[in-house]
Amino acid sequence: MSHPIAAGKSSFDLVDPERVLSELRLQPDTVLLDLACGIGNYALAAATVIGPAGTVYAFDLWPEGIDLLRQSARERGVPQVRAEVADVREPLPLPAGSCDLALMATVLHDLAAEGGGEKALREAARLLRPGGRLVVIEFEKVDSHPGPPAAIRLAHEEVEALVVPCGFRRERLVPVGDPLYLLSFVREG
Ligand SMILES: C[S@@+](CC[C@H](N)C(=O)[O-])C[C@H]1O[C@@H](n2cnc3c(N)ncnc32)[C@H](O)[C@@H]1O
Repeated sequence: MSHPIAAGKSSFDLVDPERVLSELRLQPDTVLLDLACGIGNYALAAATVIGPAGTVYAFDLWPEGIDLLRQSARERGVPQVRAEVADVREPLPLPAGSCDLALMATVLHDLAAEGGGEKALREAARLLRPGGRLVVIEFEKVDSHPGPPAAIRLAHEEVEALVVPCGFRRERLVPVGDPLYLLSFVREG
């Protein structure tokens, strides 16, 4: 698949970036996994905060997006971003328990609509260390533009119902933009 659904779209310009970065609770040694990173707006912002001692693994099915992210990372001098083309519904080339934090920014609704939400969430659970966190950013389930149709947007309860059975407990719900929310979860184990 060379042009997956929603390729080229990003919610980064619709959120309050300071609010999101603060909710990520980044540390200098954080290992962050950005699942379906697109052109990597979140990955680059997080990598800048984390600094050279951490790592940001960024995966997307869209090869042009990964090329653009690699180019931006070079230009901005953030070699801690490691970007690869990959399907986040499949096993990713990282060891179990190797990540502190996983981010799914405005992609879970598409994965869920296509029946791949559980696979991606179980892979996130495999890669996170016990106590690691999963952060999901989604559009409120209302009609608004830009964004996906309300019919495929996920209400808070729908995100929880998808995520919790995959080995997580719910942590925090925070508004991060109009109409976007962030739900965080902790990897149990
Ligand atoms: C709405 S964009 C969000 C991009 C990024 N998270 C952001 O908000 O800036 C959704 C992204 O999911 C990617 N995507 C869709 N299905 C995927 C899959 N199965 N594996 C990896 N990436 C996928 C698309 O290529 C696209 O870049």
